[in-house]
Amino acid sequence: MSKVIAVFGAGTGLGASVARRFGREGFRVALVARRRERLDALVERLAEDGVEAAGFTADLSRPAEVPALIASIRDRFGRIDVIEYGPFGTEQNFTPAAETDAAVLEEGLPMFLLTPVEVVRAVLPEWTERGDGAFLLTTGVTAVHPMPRLSGLAPLGAAARNYLYSLHGELADAGIYAGTLSVGAMIARSELSALVAQAGTGEGTASEFPVVDPDDLAEHYWDMYTKRDRIEQIYP
Ligand SMILES: NC(=O)c1ccc[n+]([C@@H]2O[C@H](COP(=O)([O-])OP(=O)(O)OC[C@H]3O[C@@H](n4cnc5c(N)ncnc54)[C@H](OP(=O)(O)O)[C@@H]3O)[C@@H](O)[C@H]2O)c1
Repeated sequence: MSKVIAVFGAGTGLGASVARRFGREGFRVALVARRRERLDALVERLAEDGVEAAGFTADLSRPAEVPALIASIRDRFGRIDVIEYGPFGTEQNFTPAAETDAAVLEEGLPMFLLTPVEVVRAVLPEWTERGDGAFLLTTGVTAVHPMPRLSGLAPLGAAARNYLYSLHGELADAGIYAGTLSVGAMIARSELSALVAQAGTGEGTASEFPVVDPDDLAEHYWDMYTKRDRIEQIYP
């Protein structure tokens, strides 16, 4: 039975590229996001490239729903070998640290920290039994390098990265890889990049960042997954 990658947060940016990159290697693909019609479009595009994929609608800000989601992916595909976790919505935004409060952190906490932890818990028994598995966590570069005005989400990304590092140390000897890609660039074809293009340029906006083709980021992930020689890749 061919391997399966589940892309948590599958949109037109990085999610689509990761799906295509692993699909090219024979992986079947589970795509997770909230909007059914966009998932269906992605499944169709992958089918044109000869990649078997299926969409699963879920709200990743609800960690309690993770076990049922993982179960439905397993029902469809029989197994899960790799998880890429990188949901991002245009409603998410950085806030200056001076304006960050408990409510901002509380709002982002489920999707950026609690749910990925629950996803790992839900797949670990399968990976431990098989002696193989990989969890790929995507964050913004602010998880690694704090920057003025770009707080709010950033401390949550930093916490998730911290968890990932511990996980890597605990599981590597069992054949399970945990790696993180921190992106300090505007991802082409993502909804955010379209929004920023509309909004224009200026200091303190996301347009300050360089642009990266998500296919290049997906290539980094394939390299990390196959070589397993580093915990973290920071782009650029
Ligand atoms: N876009 C950028 O320029 C940029 C820059 C730096 C870092 N990053 C990081 O790179 C990763 C990929 O970003 P991307 O923009 O390229 O992503 P993408 O693959 O284009 O799309 C991510 C998808 O996540 C889904 N999502 C958002 N909230 C969700 C929720 N509550 N439950 C389920 N799904 C949800 C959205 O679909 P639905 O709305 O249909 O749910 C969205 O299409 C993210 O980790 C992001 O933080 C992105």
